[in-house]
Amino acid sequence: MTDSITITDNRTGESMEVPIVNGGIDSSYWQKLLPGVWFHDPSFMTTSACESAVTYLDGEEGILRYRGYPIEQLAENSTYLEVAYLLLNGELPNTEQYADWTHSITNHTFIHENVRKRFLEGFHYDAHPMGMMVSAIAALSTFYADAKMINDHDAREKQIIRLIAKMPTLAAAAHRFSVGMPFVYPDNSLDFTSNFLSMMWKVAEPRFEPDPVLTKALDVLFILHADHEQNCGTTAMRVVGSADADPYSATAAATAALYGPRHGGANEAVIRMLSEIGSIENVPAFIEAVKAGKGRLQGFGHRVYKSYDPRAKIIKHTADQVFAVTGKNPLLDIALKLEEVALSDDYFTSRKLYPNVDFYSGLIYQAMGFPLEMFTVLFAIPRTAGWLAHWKELLDQDMKIARPRQLYIGSDVRDYVPIASRG
Ligand code: CMC
Repeated sequence: MTDSITITDNRTGESMEVPIVNGGIDSSYWQKLLPGVWFHDPSFMTTSACESAVTYLDGEEGILRYRGYPIEQLAENSTYLEVAYLLLNGELPNTEQYADWTHSITNHTFIHENVRKRFLEGFHYDAHPMGMMVSAIAALSTFYADAKMINDHDAREKQIIRLIAKMPTLAAAAHRFSVGMPFVYPDNSLDFTSNFLSMMWKVAEPRFEPDPVLTKALDVLFILHADHEQNCGTTAMRVVGSADADPYSATAAATAALYGPRHGGANEAVIRMLSEIGSIENVPAFIEAVKAGKGRLQGFGHRVYKSYDPRAKIIKHTADQVFAVTGKNPLLDIALKLEEVALSDDYFTSRKLYPNVDFYSGLIYQAMGFPLEMFTVLFAIPRTAGWLAHWKELLDQDMKIARPRQLYIGSDVRDYVPIASRG
């Protein structure tokens, strides 16, 4: 057994030995061996597009680690801001580094008044907050002249701090606008997650006092969503970042990808699905309809996880803690029944379809009072740390611009026909 494969070029009869390194074959090797031969891999089913030291994921075993640390340990012991530091810097911070980091983030939570007044408040009253977020994040690049200085270490760190710090402020501003409530300025005496809850829910009280159980639960959800290696949004971040675009524009692209219901939009879709099912008795009929190809079981299945998503396990536990405070979400029983029926059905088990992160997270968000439209925004806030960790890594690796090839399937060459002569 050697770590290589032998391929024969039937055009010439020549055989060649190709080394396998880390489970893959380097494309520069292929280019030398078979110039002009492309690999056709739509949706990157079998393509590794980069080397990364940020997140380890084993979909068969249901393992997720950030910088080597198991997600279970981080969810139990860490905070979102500490995890963000870890993702971005590769190591957990010491006491002094953590104090500096939280101080910097806390001091960048305010947004320029014009971001709110000119951009966010310019939207139609019923605009989806994810659409508002994509636009507002992109608009931020026009407020910071140093955003384009991506090769300057200090400028790069500054934009990272700004983006992580301002995401909750933008998110809460989008929500307040959609419900016609006045904008709440950040309260920098609160920690990251409490401050977000204050900007979301504060009414007339002098200081918002968040429930510690709910704050901790949301912080755990932020940790679980902080990174997930080369998913659709992170790939968008890397592709746009590879063109040397500023980090705000790249983050806006990643946020746009996350918006889709196949990606971060699934948590919203799960609640809509559970509400449509309506009661436990309707679950078997719904499952049969899915099996007959009428729609998908939202919150089930994953491109990489072929066993239970480890994040879904932690979220199920977090849900119990939240419901002890808020009262049980009435949709929970339908979700549990759905899971039970699906996991005992050959259609789902043979395709290795298990609950993913989105299956239970929406139930928690809903019990905490977040409107459905905010669910994907709640995903985008912490994922910003992961996106930026990949962006930083990409720049440090001095990667070339992303530019796949295509298989052309259009018309052969033909001559222009004047409009009067067309049939
Ligand atoms: N319900 C019913 N059948 C499904 C589902 C589902 N949720 N997911 C996959 N399948 C079936 C699919 O019909 C196909 O069957 P067949 O082989 O007979 O054609 C098989 O399983 C493989 O599906 P696929 O679409 O080729 O798999 P994929 O890797 O391209 O898609 C996915 C992954 C996550 C897009 C998909 O499972 C899905 O649409 N799930 C529902 C949406 C969802 O929960 N998304 C959140 C993903 S996790 C968070 C995130 O990434 O943001």
